[in-house]
Formats: sequence, structure tokens, C-alpha cells
Amino acid sequence: MNVVAIILAAGKGTRMKSRLPKVLHGVCGKPMLEHVISAAAGAGVSRNIVIIGHGSDMIRESVKFDVAWVEQTEQLGTGHAVMQAERLLTGFTGSILVLCGDTPLISPATLERLFQEHTAAGNSVTVLTADIADPTGYGRIIRDSTGAVTGIVEHRDASGEQLRINEINTGIYCFAAKELFAALQKISPANAQGEYYLTDVLAVIAEQGGRTGAVKVEDARETMGINDRVQLAAAEALMRRKILNDLMTAGVTIIDPDNTYIGSEVIIGTDSIVYPGTIMEGNCRFGENCILGPYSRLTNVTAGNEVTVQNSVITDSSVGNGVIIGPFAYIRPGTVLGDNVKVGDFVEIKNSVVENGSKVPHLSYVGDAQIGERVNIGAGTITCNYDGTQKWQTKIGNNAFIGSNTNLVAPVKVGENAIIGAGSTVTKDVPDGALCIERAKQKVYPDWTTRKNKKK
Ligand code: UD1
Ligand code: MG
Repeated sequence: MNVVAIILAAGKGTRMKSRLPKVLHGVCGKPMLEHVISAAAGAGVSRNIVIIGHGSDMIRESVKFDVAWVEQTEQLGTGHAVMQAERLLTGFTGSILVLCGDTPLISPATLERLFQEHTAAGNSVTVLTADIADPTGYGRIIRDSTGAVTGIVEHRDASGEQLRINEINTGIYCFAAKELFAALQKISPANAQGEYYLTDVLAVIAEQGGRTGAVKVEDARETMGINDRVQLAAAEALMRRKILNDLMTAGVTIIDPDNTYIGSEVIIGTDSIVYPGTIMEGNCRFGENCILGPYSRLTNVTAGNEVTVQNSVITDSSVGNGVIIGPFAYIRPGTVLGDNVKVGDFVEIKNSVVENGSKVPHLSYVGDAQIGERVNIGAGTITCNYDGTQKWQTKIGNNAFIGSNTNLVAPVKVGENAIIGAGSTVTKDVPDGALCIERAKQKVYPDWTTRKNKKK
């Protein structure tokens, strides 16, 4: 589709009271600007141009999307903001979708409908409008006696009669590129805010005999703009519920949607069950028949089918099929767990590979380790991976058995089928099939207490 999106995001967002530019505030774990860019991309635009000003360096740095950034050094109004994109669009004769960076709930479907009705009607401009009970602060849609849109009047410039209009400008429009830039030449900042209003373009086009139109959004909540943190939380709640509804519709059980927090990019397979208090963020993918939660935080985790996670934290890791994690496990970045691995209670694993069928059932620290298949790590085992200056690796071969309370002082290797006696501090490599015991020989003094008492 021959459409370019221009996303306005140069404003300061004063009411957020934040050092972070408004459009970088997250909704369901993703900056609102990214939601808007994704919606435009989802509607099929060929290119996104984002107008930035306040905090532009931070925005460019954190939003790693394929967009053209344009700086608006002075915020002279929404019309002025759109003018900044003109130099990137010389000779472009298609349509332009204008969006705001602070409306994270807008859906691709609504943008598509706006574009389709715009094209079907052969309009020069089509504005997305909404009927709302309290239109305070919004621009009002002005129509003539035939119902044709003749312009938009900002709240602060509106007459008493115009203030009673409930149809508002959502700030989202579709324009014919040529007519848009021609009309922008004709607007002036002679208004209550002394700004170049994009909204004035409609009257200019209408006066010149251009076709103007309006499309009403089906659900006005989609076009909700975020100006402060109360609205941010309201948008979060709406988006959260939509994400959960989509998952449930796709065959995932969510026991308590009011206590489950799942990011917009998360994928969960059918017949998985998510228990309360579970937070899934970033790029999480879980397969079918998983049991997730309660009370777990999963960030950027890729996992197979039939995985169980209870009361645990997993970050930047990958998990095979049939893995059991928790309760109370902490799996840190760079961990790869094979199929049918068990990581039990009070176990921390960092930057390690644990291959198929191995078990770390209780009270262990595994860091910078490579653990083969079907290895059993006894309770209280620690990989001593840090010597005060540097981190070292521990390697454990297939079928090895590490007795409880073993210290593995890295760098160290334990061979396949080797056995380490409980309580050993292993500082040297153990060959395949060997038994290693490193501890003082047990001494037993019979009748010790009786003899001691007799001496008194
Ligand atoms: C605008 C519309 C209003 C509409 C409302 C919907 C105008 C004049 N008014 O008002 O009719 O009902 O949106 O929410 O357009 N921006 C820039 N550069 C600027 C000024 C603004 O990039 O110089 C950006 C802002 O960052 C924001 C967007 O444009 O993302 C809208 O600007 P804002 O000042 O919030 O406009 P509203 O007063 O909300
Ligand atoms: Mg405003």
C-alpha cells in the first residue's frame, strides 16, 4: 500500500513529570511509540517517519525500529511538525497517515479502515473521529448542513456552541500527500496557542473544494492519548486485558486476569495455564501444556512444551521440553536448559548449559558451567566460578554424580560417569569414571562423652 506514516512525537509531555520523554514510557512492557509504529506497520504502511524533538537522542537510542527520524527543533505546533517531513517526501504522490506517538492503543485494523474509506471516497483528507461524553480539551469536528466536514476547531479557540459538539478529532488522519503539503503552506499561527495547527489543514482543503471526510472509530478507547501517569495506568489496564483476552481466545487458560501481566510480544501455546502473580515480559515464547506461575517473573524466555515454572524468576534464557523449574529458582541470563531438566528449590543458575535429563534439585549455585546429560547435582553444590578477579568455567560430563555439598573450584572438569563424594572441594580435574573424595577421613572416638565426664 502506497502509504507513508508520519508519527508526531516531538512534544515534551510535561504532565508526565519525567526525565524520560513521554513516548518512551512503557505500556505492557513496550514504549508507547513502539506500539504506534507497530500499529502503522501492521496496517501495511511502506515507511514510518517519526518527528522527534524533546529527548530525541534517548528516543533514537532506545527505539531500534526501521524508521526515518526527523528532528523538529522547535515545537511550533502539529502542523509545523508535519512540515518537517516534507523534505523526505519530495515527489511522493501517495497517501499519508498522520498519527501521534502517545496513542499506544490504536489498532492496525482501525488504521486500515481509515485508509480504505479515505481511498474509496477519493478524499483529500479523512479524519478519524470519536463521539465522547466529555470532549473537554479536544478539537471539535465542524460539519455543514449536509454533514460534510468543513474544519476542526481546537477547544481553546471554540465558541460556546462549538464546545457542545461531542464529535472530537482523535489526532489521526489520512491525507493525499500533495494536498496536505500544499495546504500546510497556507496555515498560520493566529490562534489561542500561537501554534501551526495541523487541524487547520482541513478547512483550507474544504475551502479549496477538496473532498474531506470523517471515519468514526468503533471503540473510542483505542484513540486515548496519554498525557499523565494516571492515563498511562489506564492504557496499561486496557492493553493488558486485550492481550489476555487474545491469549484466552487462542486457547491459553489465565486463572485470574486481574493478577496476570503479560507483554504484547509474548507467545504462549494452547492448553498452557497461567497462574496468578505471573509477569511475562519482552520476547517470551512458551509452548503447549505449560504451567506457568504462580508468582513468577519471566523475561525474554524461550521454552518448549510441558514446562512447569513455579514461584521463580527467569531472565534471558532458553528452556527445553518437559522442564520443571522451582519453586523458588533464579535462572539468570545466558542459561540454556535441555529437555526434561529439573531445577528445584533455591537453585541459582547463571550463564550455564544444562543438557537433557540433568537435575539440580535443591540449594545449589551453578555459574559459568557446562553440564552434560543425565547429571545429578546434589543439594548444596556450588560452582566456585569467581577467584576475585576473573570468572572460570566448570565442565561436568554425561552421567556424572556430584554428591551433596560439593564445591567445584573452577576452572575444573569432572569426567563422564565420575562420582564426587559428598562434601568434597574439587580443585583438580576428575577423569571419566573416577571416584573423587576430598575430605578429612572420619574419626570416631568411642565412649568419648562418658570418659570425659569420668575425668571430672
Ligand atoms: C491535538 C489536536 C486536537 C486533537 C488532539 C487529539 C492539533 C492542533 N490539535 O491536540 O484537535 O483533538 O490532538 O489528541 O493538532 N507535537 C509535535 N510537535 C509540535 C506539537 C506537537 O511533535 O510542535 C506532537 C506531540 O508530541 C503529540 C502530538 O503532536 O504527540 C499532539 O500534540 P498535542 O500538543 O498533544 O496536541 P493536542 O493539544 O492534544
Ligand atoms: Mg496537548
